[in-house]
Amino acid sequence: MSEEGELTYSEAIQKASDSITRFPLIPVREIPLMSHIANNWDSIWAFRPDPSDLLIATYPKSGTTWMQEIVDLLFHNGDAEVCRRAPTPVRSPFLEICSPPPIPSGLDLLKKMDPPRVIKTHLHFQLVPPGFWENKCKAIYVARNAKDNLVSYYHFDRMNLAQPEPGPWEGYIHKFMRGELSWGSWYDHVKGYWMEKEKRNILYLFYEDMKENPRCEVERIMRYLDLSLHDEVITRIVELTSFKNMKENPMANYSCIPAGVFDQTISPFMRKGEVGDWMNHFTPEQSKVFDEDYEKQMKDISIPFRTLL
Ligand code: A3P
Repeated sequence: MSEEGELTYSEAIQKASDSITRFPLIPVREIPLMSHIANNWDSIWAFRPDPSDLLIATYPKSGTTWMQEIVDLLFHNGDAEVCRRAPTPVRSPFLEICSPPPIPSGLDLLKKMDPPRVIKTHLHFQLVPPGFWENKCKAIYVARNAKDNLVSYYHFDRMNLAQPEPGPWEGYIHKFMRGELSWGSWYDHVKGYWMEKEKRNILYLFYEDMKENPRCEVERIMRYLDLSLHDEVITRIVELTSFKNMKENPMANYSCIPAGVFDQTISPFMRKGEVGDWMNHFTPEQSKVFDEDYEKQMKDISIPFRTLL
């Protein structure tokens, strides 16, 4: 319980755990979303951000939590203690998430916060509430190569007991290629933001670049946010947001979500954090089929993804 007698985020999830199941997906403008999100769509679409709010947009499992941690530390001058004030989803609410009561929705959490807020979304560009663009909010997009993204999502769907059953690996690859997973097609997602990035001043980053040269990417984010931090603060932020440190940080590793919802014994939220893990999963035949389909789905656009470093 908090000092005001309110349930903490973890307690609220614990209390709702009997009503958590693998929720079905319902399409919203042809994008499959968890039923609770689809059923609350009108209030999500109507959300009006403040011009000072920052949007972090990603396809699921492409480095969202990592970016949320970097941004929180940048806004707090690398102060590790301040950035341990609450778990990630409370510090940086998930715009569209809706769950059974008493779990606060993303909108409930946002209502209680003063701007500037750091807001996470997995929505496709065309589903982002238009207030973000009308108010010229800044937005950071993180993209991750399709094969590693798919592998990460597969393990996440095994451990997140609120997501649809992943089923066998072979079938999961095809669901990903057909855009049948929660939040729909990876291909349309990465393309949608890529095409809008100049017009909307979106900082479009790649997970692989963050792995290869985290300092360089942290500095780019800092400049985009119009911040100017000392070199040693940047060094500290890079260190605090390493995979190893975030895995051990209870405010960043999703240990706030009870095991009845995120079963981290099946697969930890901070699983591997690497580029190229797809090679441990795809057979040569699966890789060939995937690559052929990828060529077709991405033929209209050239986004410089890297599948190996
Ligand atoms: P893996 O499953 O490949 O390990 P999201 O936050 O969008 O859900 O993405 C989760 C993925 O990002 C997981 O990938 C997780 O391990 C990885 N990740 C989280 N923090 C990271 C960090 N500091 N460095 C590298 N990868 C990180």
